[in-house]
Amino acid sequence: MRRVLVTGGAGYIGSHTCLELLNAGFEITVVDNLSNSTQESLQRVSTLTGKEIAFFEVDLLDARGLDAVFSKGNFETVIHFAALKAVGESVAQPLQYYQNNVTGTVNLCQAMQKHGVTDLVFSSSATVYGIPKSLPLTEQSETLIHEVTNPYGRSKLMVEFVLKDWQTAFPSMNIALLRYFNPVGAHVSGLIGEDPSGLPNNLLPYVSQVAVGKLEKLGVFGDDYETSDGTGVRDYIHVVDLAVGHVLAVKKLSENPGVVIYNLGTGIGYSVFQIIAAFEEASGRNIPFEIMPRRAGDIAACFADPSLAKRELGWTANRGIQEMCVDGWRWQSNNPNGYS
Ligand code: NAD
Ligand code: WQD
Repeated sequence: MRRVLVTGGAGYIGSHTCLELLNAGFEITVVDNLSNSTQESLQRVSTLTGKEIAFFEVDLLDARGLDAVFSKGNFETVIHFAALKAVGESVAQPLQYYQNNVTGTVNLCQAMQKHGVTDLVFSSSATVYGIPKSLPLTEQSETLIHEVTNPYGRSKLMVEFVLKDWQTAFPSMNIALLRYFNPVGAHVSGLIGEDPSGLPNNLLPYVSQVAVGKLEKLGVFGDDYETSDGTGVRDYIHVVDLAVGHVLAVKKLSENPGVVIYNLGTGIGYSVFQIIAAFEEASGRNIPFEIMPRRAGDIAACFADPSLAKRELGWTANRGIQEMCVDGWRWQSNNPNGYS
């Protein structure tokens, strides 16, 4: 049995990953400062799995608190989700984002080093590719820091560099950089899902809150892109497929591969209009929308070549767009106010 420390495990992707880790027989400890989550998500994961999760409410910026967690745990692997992730907020508060996401990660690495933990899975993002020069995006596609469109994205690319430099200096480290495309949906139980605070920034949470009647209508950010119908195209991936990818990445690290980088996406792009249609079908609700100006920093289209993860992890995204919308709708309609 492997003992895994999950940072940010109470959050959206973290809670789904905790569930898959427990079902795969891992023993897990979560550290989270609950800045964008509640412990209720983990209680529900325990209910679903019948297994306990050790939880510490600790901020990654609190190096001593983190050290105390490592002293208790004897971990073999760390999965590092903890980060701030709101793109617009990162433009307004760049220092907060660099401190939380970059300094928080450095603190984590220092604690790992002190306690002799060698395996790390990091939540990176397709945002590190900036404005794609060609599609689909492979792991070899360029990642130029000045082309990343916002401080949040740059904090992710900076952390990738920090981790690569660390592994170069300490070759016994094993690090998986997982570049997620657009995670959506929820666990099939409808018990856990995404619970954004305030107005949702991302498309699917916004669409589902319109469908459930909490928001009046969706703003579609531009219909004049060079895409099939003029709206932005993205590679949406079911959060459970993403969570399974983490379990496989943890297993991969036990082969001592050094640094590995994987795109986790489906390889298929859907437009905003296609998403609206799919969600209307899944929910049986009408989604009123209005065309708005383009959103600053948005790109026209982005989708993955996920073949490396297939070859090296044996991973593929099995759940299609309809399942993403049906599961997302089940979560939203069963929990109109999220966990509260
Ligand atoms: P989330 O906000 O739901 O989860 C992040 C968790 O980290 C939260 O529970 C939050 O309380 C915690 N956290 C933040 N800063 C912390 C700190 N300093 N110390 C301790 N805990 C802290 O976000 P998510 O959607 O689950 O994203 C998880 C990871 O995946 C993040 O690193 C994010 O950048 C990355 N990612 C997300 C997406 C996406 O669209 N959701 C896409 C690509 C990458
Ligand atoms: C998807 C499409 C919008 C909202 C963001 C981050 C990225 C990653 C995933 C963390 C775009 C359109 C959206 C709305 C709309 N996060 N849209 N109306 O921008 O691809 O990626 O989340 O790493 O870093 O940038 O996702 O869901 O915000 O947008 O028309 O109210 O939906 O313009 O075409 P995005 P998104």
